[in-house]
Amino acid sequence: MIHIAPSVLAADFSMLREQLSELQRAGINWLHVDIMDGHFVPNLTFGPKIVKTLRKLWLGTLDVHLMVEEPDFLIPDFREAGADIITVHVEAVRHLHRTVQLVKKLGAKAGVSLNPATPEVLLQEILSDVDVVLVMSVNPGFGGQKFIPDVLPKIRRIRKSADQLAHEIDIEVDGGVNAETAKSIVESGANVLIAGTAIFGGKNISASFNAIRKNIGLSV
Ligand code: DX5
Ligand code: ZN
Repeated sequence: MIHIAPSVLAADFSMLREQLSELQRAGINWLHVDIMDGHFVPNLTFGPKIVKTLRKLWLGTLDVHLMVEEPDFLIPDFREAGADIITVHVEAVRHLHRTVQLVKKLGAKAGVSLNPATPEVLLQEILSDVDVVLVMSVNPGFGGQKFIPDVLPKIRRIRKSADQLAHEIDIEVDGGVNAETAKSIVESGANVLIAGTAIFGGKNISASFNAIRKNIGLSV
């Protein structure tokens, strides 16, 4: 199933409640939350307290993307705050198998993410253990960057490997996703489109959402 998941990083926090209701009214049921630590990426965003607030306002899937170094000590707090999916970066974790097992033990879905320059071969030994693979299509740290099309063959290869293992995963693509780039992303085998600027940056959230849906052949 294809999902378009807004990244709350691009929301207007002075009217968060209204914007989240607007997403839910538009039929969106997956919200992406970017956690940045100022070390793994050159930017700082939210901690577990904000995720807890989002949990109160959001009825659907709460998808927490940890762009932090050595996230193990933070994972229990984000799960406690209400994260349904917790994704870590393979570049930021020393013992990926242990981290993935920790997320699963806490009852969340486990995701692993790859930066644009990181090859998917690093997932080979862990793919059958994860629920989500998040392919970064910009260098992480900021919203509003331009999509890097070089990641498309990587998406294709990840989908092929998962199919060969007969293992069901969601493949998320994050960064520079909009109505123009969405089509090639879905054709490559991704099924979760993370979109910040493309959803919150326009005049009307549901019109922006429908523009993406239309271009990937979904009903509007
Ligand atoms: C980038 C974040 C993305 C970002 C996407 O580091 O992981 O989720 O918010 O924003 P847009 O859609 O504006 O590229
Ligand atoms: Zn993200």
